[in-house]
Amino acid sequence: MCGIVGYLGDKEAAPILLSGLRRLEYRGYDSAGIAVANGAPSTVLRRRGKLAELERLVATETPHGNVGIGHTRWATHGRPSDENAHPHKVGGVSLVHNGIIENHVDLRRRLQGEARVFKSETDTEIVAHLVDRALRDGAPTLIEAVRMALSEVRGAYAIVVMSDDHPEQIVAAKNASPLVLGIGESETFLASDVPALLEHTRDVLFLEEGEIVEITRGGVRVERMDGRVVERSPRRIEWDAAQAEKGGYPHFMLKEIHEQPRAIADTLRGRLDVEGGDASIGTFDADAGRLRRVVLLACGTSYHAGLVGKFLIEGLAGIPAEVDLASEFRYRDPVIGPDDLVVGISQSGETADTLAAIKEARSRGARALAISNVVDSAIARASDGALYTYAGPEIGVASTKCFTAQLAALALLALHLGRRTGKLSLEAGRAFASELQQIPAKMERVLAVSGDLSDVAQRSASVSDVLFLGRGVNYPIALEGALKLKEISYIHAEGYAAGEMKHGPIALIDDGMPVVVIAPMGPSYEKVLSNLAEVKARDGRIIAVATEGDKHLRSVSDVVLSVPDAPPLLQPLLTVVPLQILAYSVAVAKGNDVDQPRNLAKSVTVE
Ligand code: F6R
Repeated sequence: MCGIVGYLGDKEAAPILLSGLRRLEYRGYDSAGIAVANGAPSTVLRRRGKLAELERLVATETPHGNVGIGHTRWATHGRPSDENAHPHKVGGVSLVHNGIIENHVDLRRRLQGEARVFKSETDTEIVAHLVDRALRDGAPTLIEAVRMALSEVRGAYAIVVMSDDHPEQIVAAKNASPLVLGIGESETFLASDVPALLEHTRDVLFLEEGEIVEITRGGVRVERMDGRVVERSPRRIEWDAAQAEKGGYPHFMLKEIHEQPRAIADTLRGRLDVEGGDASIGTFDADAGRLRRVVLLACGTSYHAGLVGKFLIEGLAGIPAEVDLASEFRYRDPVIGPDDLVVGISQSGETADTLAAIKEARSRGARALAISNVVDSAIARASDGALYTYAGPEIGVASTKCFTAQLAALALLALHLGRRTGKLSLEAGRAFASELQQIPAKMERVLAVSGDLSDVAQRSASVSDVLFLGRGVNYPIALEGALKLKEISYIHAEGYAAGEMKHGPIALIDDGMPVVVIAPMGPSYEKVLSNLAEVKARDGRIIAVATEGDKHLRSVSDVVLSVPDAPPLLQPLLTVVPLQILAYSVAVAKGNDVDQPRNLAKSVTVE
């Protein structure tokens, strides 16, 4: 996600802001900006591209002042550009924001109705307008104006605000996006992440949900949104810089595994309508009534998301769906035309094969929708529309949170189509939407119980092969579990449809072969149990992914990884999580470079 920094003290703010933003570069960004004030109106400088671009601009403009805020942006609403970069300045208000404003469409319309003019495509500028409006309406203090503005906002945010009318202060508020204060000697720092603070101070104060803070020369005052004062002492951070970048986790991959509930919640935010049993896919018109077929195109992990997408689209919308490896599709003579919808899935949005496959399909008349984690990516631009995932930048090469965010986006798409083809009634739509909304909390439970798999991992680290078995919608998860293990542990692993085992791979099973069986409660449960019995009869060692409380599986398996109950179509969002942790733990046990596995690149822009 985006990075935030802030400073109020006696030193020049601009160099402190720029060096703070440098410390957050590892998170990924597409543009950057700062606002600096010295009692007079703030100077706002913004640039698309790398920080070096902003640094050049700052060197030319030389803004002076002891108060400032800065931001690195990872586009969500509106493409990467100078205009969309933060800070946004409206009237005398300069503001930076991380997160997503859910009701931005409504708010923008209302503010435009009040003759307010927007200069960017962002949801952030809306909040700057709201704060400016509150000040003009007579809010006595900046903190009061921010409070009034936020009372109209729904969504996830960390915002930081300065005002020309209230110099020498910064107000910040947090709801679901991180924000931390660094407490120095007569100076205060502010950041979205600890690494930006460590060169100045190790005494930090993490803001909690629904808190708002006023930073002045007198110090910091933290309040709840209702005005109650919060008394909390700073805590001393002992992390080194590398640990701080990983939020205290030993590796980015583990941090990103733990970020999944938030990534899913952000991807669903403002799109899932539980009451109406429906989902919005933005401005793209899927023309569901006319669709003959949906063709999902992707590579690697994203291809596995596509395989789950087929179940979702056929199950909820009753539209035939096919999944193709983009690298195969582009070199076939594919039968595809105007009544087909192509869905290109890519976390990076720039995978060469997926891009070429989308272009090929469009050249034959099909319409294309991109599911991408990068706004305005090549794949999004090459498509007729985009349904973005909001997982935030993924640094670990092995994809985890982007995969589950893709599953969430596909669930939204399937629900949207299902309500339009009529296959899903209002009641059924509501039931599915409500289950989907519960997924982030259920994922938290999986993360809490999966805990430490180092024992299992130690025992698996020396094997040379692992088999992953699943059926139905969990078969793609068997493929994904195997891919994760291969990528980072370098152990040969194969995903197989459990029913296919007796047609060949059963010959491999002996007491040295761990078999991971994905067997949550659902339509395939009994069948998978029979497959499991076949493994057991040949002394295979069984690691089962099971629904919480499944005593039978516990009695026949060597290790059980539990997940909460969920409707079959949503199970992959949960069953994949213990497999990610398993792969991670085995790679750690082997001493491998988890975040940068050998021979792999994060984005594959060659054929
Ligand atoms: C595996 C992984 C890759 C990617 C594949 C496609 O962990 O990340 O298999 O899924 O290279 O990449 P995107 O999704 O960027 O098109």
